[in-house]
Amino acid sequence: MIDIMKMFKARMYMKRNEPFLYSWHAYVGYELDLFKAFSRPMQAADVSDAYQLDEELLHQWIMVGLSIGHLKDAGRDRYKVASTWKLPKPKGENSSGVLLKEMMELHIPTLLEYPSMMRDKKRLHFDEEAHAPTVAETSRLLETLALPKVARRINEFGSRKILDIGCGEAGYVKKLADRFPDAAFKGLEISPEVTEKAIELTKDNDNVAIEQGDLWSYEPDRKYDLVMMNNVIHYIDLEDRAELFKKLAGWLEPGAVLSVITPIAGSKDAPPFGNVFNSFFSSFENLYRLPTETELKEWGSGAGLELLKIKTVIKEGSWYIAQYRK
Ligand SMILES: C[S@@+](CC[C@H](N)C(=O)[O-])C[C@H]1O[C@@H](n2cnc3c(N)ncnc32)[C@H](O)[C@@H]1O
Repeated sequence: MIDIMKMFKARMYMKRNEPFLYSWHAYVGYELDLFKAFSRPMQAADVSDAYQLDEELLHQWIMVGLSIGHLKDAGRDRYKVASTWKLPKPKGENSSGVLLKEMMELHIPTLLEYPSMMRDKKRLHFDEEAHAPTVAETSRLLETLALPKVARRINEFGSRKILDIGCGEAGYVKKLADRFPDAAFKGLEISPEVTEKAIELTKDNDNVAIEQGDLWSYEPDRKYDLVMMNNVIHYIDLEDRAELFKKLAGWLEPGAVLSVITPIAGSKDAPPFGNVFNSFFSSFENLYRLPTETELKEWGSGAGLELLKIKTVIKEGSWYIAQYRK
């Protein structure tokens, strides 16, 4: 009886881990441009020559690809991509592969540190500079979904003076500035390298100013119609968050809007990805857990703001947009 249970559980865990193979295979293909290489029928030896890759390992990757349906046999020892729509596009084409890359190179290795971190009661340090380009690219993917929700508020409230706190590479600022040429945008970003990139990317927008600086020491010379803060809360220490909302509210004109994008986690109803994001952020001494929905409501009311709406951006990722009015 016990042996049967053991086998049952072992099989169950193997089965549950099967989806990982799809992600792993897609990640390797994306990272090494292999889906491009096999976009027409190719032999492993030719691809390994052309791309200077280990032929045996490439062969094994092809075998997994065949068994999960990412690749198909094209005869005469040649293989070809199957069901292209399921696979990430090549690098640099705003590919979903960047999400796989972040998951495989950053999230999973971090989560595997849990036993030693818990035993030693130690956290890792989040190396901002090392991960900035990948994180910036994944943020850009999310923008596409969140942007219409921000744009709607700008239309509704006729916002003309707009501030983006922790603007990153100015993805939101740039797209909104293109769409609302009469509005003036300001982006504040703490990292000098990221600020430089943001300035470069918005150099053709006369209505954009990017400034390098820490939000805690920022002293605006005007009030704003809309203040955005997207995917920044997990950079802020827990004790400082209520204070931050008060600070942001102080930069708004009466009747103006605060728009905050963040994943929400920390309840048993949150989707697993939301809660595992929390496990990830909490692994670093310089990142902090995500807010709960209740906290977002409390910080708003504590800052004298009326909550307009909390809406889902990506359900599976537990990503939300919360908007308030002063
Ligand atoms: C995850 S990125 C999000 C970028 C962008 N808002 C987006 O959603 O695509 C967070 C950004 O906030 C910046 N940041 C963190 N703490 C900050 C602070 N105290 N003041 C200004 N920017 C900050 C980081 O450098 C990083 O570029």
